[in-house]
Amino acid sequence: MTTAQSRVTHAGFGLGLRTPHYPDFLAAPQRVDWLEILSDNYLVPGGKPLVMLDQIRANYPMVMHGVALSVGAADGPDRDYLDALAALERRVEPLWISDHLCWTGVHGKVLHDLYPLPYTEAALDVVVRNVQIAQEVLQRPLVLENVSSYVSFRASEMTEWEFIRAVCDRTGCRLLLDVNNIYVSSVNHGFDPQAFLEGIPADRVQQIHLAGHTDHGDHIVDTHDHPVADPVWALYASALARVGPVATLIERDDQIPPLAELITELDHARLIASRTTTSRQRERAVSLA
Ligand SMILES: [Fe+2]
Repeated sequence: MTTAQSRVTHAGFGLGLRTPHYPDFLAAPQRVDWLEILSDNYLVPGGKPLVMLDQIRANYPMVMHGVALSVGAADGPDRDYLDALAALERRVEPLWISDHLCWTGVHGKVLHDLYPLPYTEAALDVVVRNVQIAQEVLQRPLVLENVSSYVSFRASEMTEWEFIRAVCDRTGCRLLLDVNNIYVSSVNHGFDPQAFLEGIPADRVQQIHLAGHTDHGDHIVDTHDHPVADPVWALYASALARVGPVATLIERDDQIPPLAELITELDHARLIASRTTTSRQRERAVSLA
């Protein structure tokens, strides 16, 4: 396995593939560079989901994104789950495979949520071991996403971004930087989102996620049922200035609008990215002059 290889240089703009949009993607070409599938929806052999997947895959590059690898679980990733992921990997030939830097269950029980970790050396050892196991099975670097969180642990010995950097350094994995999750957690825990961006290893960021949330005043919930909020767009521009051009995707999991609406939102991401790239080029030209 080549964990040291540089990130896939694919800086297009994608959407999460959702069932209501299957007909749109089958009927005509859409202004979407690639699609992210929820791996967990396609792990059962046979059936209509895989038939639809194969038809859409014929016209779009895909990324596999999972929710149940549970790299933070002390009892390690489920071997059957990993084998099913590897089978899907052979079928889809994805650009990359991602999951979350979290735990989702224990003792074989799946809790169907993404739980934050204590940022300790002991938890780091568990994550590193599990990521290495997953990378050996999948034969590629894993891409890990920062989750949104609503609790933190007194036991934590480092910041979230220090923990992320250590995981990358020790495993060669890459990052799926969820900018909305950074914003949600920064408000809920009272940290500076710019410090997060400064702290992560920029050269390890493979992809960015953008999504909507629900603001309850004294806390924010990561609901994925709204358009991307203005502070998240602003943080996206900061992230691009730090990381450079990188594949970007908008997630919507509830109150799913017509595809055209999401493509219009994706165009806004394209606009911000082109402005950021232009200003980076201008800065570089000034520094070279
Ligand atoms: Fe995300």
